[in-house]
Amino acid sequence: MLKDKILVLDFGSQYTQLIARRVRENRVYSEIFPYNAPFEKILDFKPKGIILSGGPSSVYSKGSPIPDIKIFNLGIPILGICYGMQLMAHLLGGRVAKAAKREYGRAELMVDDDSDLFNGIPPHPPLIKGGSRRGGELSIIVWMSHGDRIEKYPKGFMPIAHTENSPVAAMADKKRNFYALQFHPEVAHTEKGREITKNFIFHICGCKPAWTMKSFIETAKSAIREKAGNQRVVCGISGGVDSSVTAVLVHKAIGDALTCIFVDNGVLRHNEAKRVELMLKKSFHMNIKYVDASERFLKKLKGVKDPERKRKIIGNEFIRVFEDEAMKIKKVSFLAQGTLYPDVIESTSFKGPSATIKSHHNVGGLLKKMKLKLIEPLRELFKDEVRVLGHELGIPDEVINRHPFPGPGLAIRCISDVTKERLAILRKADVIVLDEIKKAGLYNKIWQAFAVLLPVKSVGVMGDERTYDNVIAVRAVTSVDGMTADWAKMPYEVMGRISNRIINEVKGVNRVVYDISSKPPSTIEWE
Ligand code: XMP
Repeated sequence: MLKDKILVLDFGSQYTQLIARRVRENRVYSEIFPYNAPFEKILDFKPKGIILSGGPSSVYSKGSPIPDIKIFNLGIPILGICYGMQLMAHLLGGRVAKAAKREYGRAELMVDDDSDLFNGIPPHPPLIKGGSRRGGELSIIVWMSHGDRIEKYPKGFMPIAHTENSPVAAMADKKRNFYALQFHPEVAHTEKGREITKNFIFHICGCKPAWTMKSFIETAKSAIREKAGNQRVVCGISGGVDSSVTAVLVHKAIGDALTCIFVDNGVLRHNEAKRVELMLKKSFHMNIKYVDASERFLKKLKGVKDPERKRKIIGNEFIRVFEDEAMKIKKVSFLAQGTLYPDVIESTSFKGPSATIKSHHNVGGLLKKMKLKLIEPLRELFKDEVRVLGHELGIPDEVINRHPFPGPGLAIRCISDVTKERLAILRKADVIVLDEIKKAGLYNKIWQAFAVLLPVKSVGVMGDERTYDNVIAVRAVTSVDGMTADWAKMPYEVMGRISNRIINEVKGVNRVVYDISSKPPSTIEWE
């Protein structure tokens, strides 16, 4: 059991997840609880320190989020960030008011005191009498976003830094180990933000860096074993990172008691099924049921042009096929799923619940009907941690760094009608796009790249013949999370090779265009 853990209480900041990640980067385990988590749950977690996140609310407005005040009697260090700071001032006897001038973005912070929180942040100004460093010789650039400020700090606290508009930009009650910052140490733009986080978790909370992927794997394996008992577990695999890592981890824990099901829905990329089977069966000796349900899916998709209907059909059909196969396995009681921490937080955060189960893996009905219970070994991990875990488990980099691929697959890239013939054209073009991008060393710089088959024909000339053939659009985007994206500024030479090869090698295509739209206002997929 990990002893040194930091709890982050979420007051709705867009940066809450980032705080937990910054802590984990230092190999100290951190979890996020909603601000109103019951006190018993907080006690059970046994944190060595608590961080109160920022948030959009104002402490003096009606219904603003307030945590259980008993957290201040736990005798452990607490760090309040932005709204978390105002909350500390408000709840511990200080006063918060609207700032004369709202501060958004960068600000120059003057450190006034050599508190543990600013430990090692050079250059230190000379001490003046009484140990205080008034004078602000040291300034660092910090990231602010607040409309309120501390008018009076609570008893026991002293200001430890200021900015031009915030006389109390940081404060500390060194006796109780309570610290508060008006700015965001967790964002990359805050200079020395990482040092401040480190100071809090190591110097102030006294944590030891013990959270490693190796320790995670061992803990996860025994938890999976304990949960599954002697029952069988089923896992749907798609070839993507999350499901592959889930399957390999569960397999390491319970071996052949795991059966993986891979459903070929007829709208996969070229060779996808083979590739996945090869990796999991040959390299990991796993039990895989390959179900070729392509005819079943394609029949249902016949004549369907509307993208949302395509999605529904594929989602529903997937559940039916998966259910049929899972039912055939004796003594199956669990479904292993690659739910990640962001999905978990989204469903428990006070910002409003959303479905815990991703819609394209919508197996909720399955759980009820078959009375399956969930095993979600990745539910504490962020995506980049899943990649590290995958690497540690020996999964090839090619799988770990794979571009995301949508559940409804090529069906939403085959604009309008999805037919075998059109899919064959799209598949060939798609292979060329990826091949050339890989050859140019661009694959890992691009978030997603793919071909789209348009429902238009255009005139061309090949040899001496007039042609009237299909148009392929090439889409390649850069992004960090898929929420926003920009079109990839690929070298013309690479675009040229892609276009040339598609037109020469893919029968039925006589024109290639490159999509130069960003998201928003466009989306990554065309449908
Ligand atoms: P959009 O097109 O909305 O895509 O900008 C954002 C990301 O989501 C993927 N995507 C999907 N993934 N089922 C999925 O599993 C879907 O129905 C779906 N639609 C879009 C898309 O590939 C991109 O990574």
